[in-house]
Amino acid sequence: MSVKVTTNPTIDLLLKRRSLVVANMTNPGPSVEELRIILRCATRVPDHGKLTPWRISVIQGNARKEVGQIWGDTFREKNPDATEEQIQAEYERPARAPVMLVVSTKIESDRVPEWEQILSGAAVCQNTLVAATALGYHAQWLSEWPNYDDDVKREMGLAPEDQFLGFIYIGTAERPPVERPRPELSDVVSYW
Ligand SMILES: Cc1cc2nc3c(=O)[nH]c(=O)nc-3n(C[C@H](O)[C@H](O)[C@H](O)COP(=O)(O)O)c2cc1C
Repeated sequence: MSVKVTTNPTIDLLLKRRSLVVANMTNPGPSVEELRIILRCATRVPDHGKLTPWRISVIQGNARKEVGQIWGDTFREKNPDATEEQIQAEYERPARAPVMLVVSTKIESDRVPEWEQILSGAAVCQNTLVAATALGYHAQWLSEWPNYDDDVKREMGLAPEDQFLGFIYIGTAERPPVERPRPELSDVVSYW
């Protein structure tokens, strides 16, 4: 079978997409309408059983301060030896980019293995990165310590059985990212 390779903007985007470290993000973030498009793309993912086993919380504007308060207070309490500078950085952590999306699981059915429901949520995260990049923004999918802290989880309104899938920061590049090495296909792909 011969395949004609043509220029295709979607393939081009997928071949060139790079995360941008959040430290290099600045304003502006996506507009209301652009964010809606990103969210529509994010929620259009494979989902075995049509369970929508994930949720997205949009943190922008002053909400970043409110989440920062939770993260900073939690960090201060659990790290008695931390310096004021380190603690301050935790209060400001969610505000490093104009928009942060909190993606979490909402697994309420055992009709489909939990693992598959979590994988569907990972697809939500990846679609977010791709959609944000397609609109000319940059994004980064981070876990960092809040992802695994049960007090943060509770304070941010998640049920004990829910899990954070990640915090996705979206903004404009202060400095564009440079390429990083990618795996050789021969190292990761085999043909049976
Ligand atoms: C679930 C998940 C959590 C991640 N958490 C972090 C993190 O906490 N800190 C970090 O530096 N990179 C983290 N990364 C990696 C970045 O999102 C990203 O993959 C990296 O910056 C390389 O960018 P690329 O998308 O251009 O390959 C995480 C990736 C995934 C998939």
